[in-house]
Amino acid sequence: MQDQLESIYQQALHDMEGVRDAEALQAWESQYLGRKGQLTLMLRQTGQLPPEARAGFGKRANEIKEALQSLHLEREEAIRQAELARSLEEGAIDVTLPGRTQAMGGLHPSTRTLRRIQQIWADMGFQVYRSRDVELDEVNFTLLNMPPHHPARDMQDTFYTTQPDIILRTHTSGGQIRAMREFGEDGTQPIRVILPGMCYRYEQISTRSEIQFHQVEGLAIGKGIRMSDLKGTITEFARRLYGEHADVRFRASYFPFTEPSMEVDVQCFLCEGHGCSVCKRTGWLEIMGCGMVHPVVLQNGGYDPNEWSGFAFGMGPERITMLKNGIEDIRYFWGNDLRILEQF
Ligand code: DAH
Repeated sequence: MQDQLESIYQQALHDMEGVRDAEALQAWESQYLGRKGQLTLMLRQTGQLPPEARAGFGKRANEIKEALQSLHLEREEAIRQAELARSLEEGAIDVTLPGRTQAMGGLHPSTRTLRRIQQIWADMGFQVYRSRDVELDEVNFTLLNMPPHHPARDMQDTFYTTQPDIILRTHTSGGQIRAMREFGEDGTQPIRVILPGMCYRYEQISTRSEIQFHQVEGLAIGKGIRMSDLKGTITEFARRLYGEHADVRFRASYFPFTEPSMEVDVQCFLCEGHGCSVCKRTGWLEIMGCGMVHPVVLQNGGYDPNEWSGFAFGMGPERITMLKNGIEDIRYFWGNDLRILEQF
């Protein structure tokens, strides 16, 4: 029995080496230390030994029992630690994963161009004047030298309201009258303003025309302002917008509120004047209308045209953005398609 006891002990030690989880530990415990475990059964047989052998056997069996019990405790703790480590690892944050990017809003392409244009004119000493979107017919047309039935009114199809004299402005030019009356102090003060804003026209919407679009109007009034001032100022603006070497040309044109009137072309910056589809093989892109303020308009603004003169200009930021980015359809601007807007 002594030998049997020792071999059970050795077997128990050996088996413990393979115990890796709580389940196997449980099985090991009932195999050796449980109620019907091998060691328990051995201990119960102590009485069958001759009396002189009992004490020695009992002592040894209890030593083994204690050894196995503490081995059991030790392994139990080791398994608990291993499981804890594993669950920590499973729930751990993988710091090498790429982060989730925040969806960022962006400025509308028109806003970007508008701000760029405004910045350039501000640097050149022009104040921003915000005129109104809902305008009097008189200001939008009549005071700009377009009396009722003037044929030039047909150039701009108008949104009317239920009030006979109130319309949506078709261009920012009417703001010239308001700026002159407000800043001119009865025609005694010079002014330099730009008037950015939304304009509205009753148009068939197509790739080239929308019912709403921005304009940036400009107006300079002073004593002795001449056409060379206009040309120099516009050329400087174009160079600041398109680059130092931008070439600019002025073509004679007609607007009722300026005399003489011109349209301004900048050399096509896509093909550098060689001719491409954007400039329709001409090498030039039209970027604005301008001219010397018509004496009638000066007068309507409160200035004496014999003493005062000035120049005005008007440009479309959407058109400028389209040319710059090769956008072929103006409807993209108000279509709210993120695939378009996110490109800016
Ligand atoms: N108001 C004109 C338009 O909508 C643009 C324009 C042309 C404005 C000449 C001006 C100007 O101030 O001088 O087409």
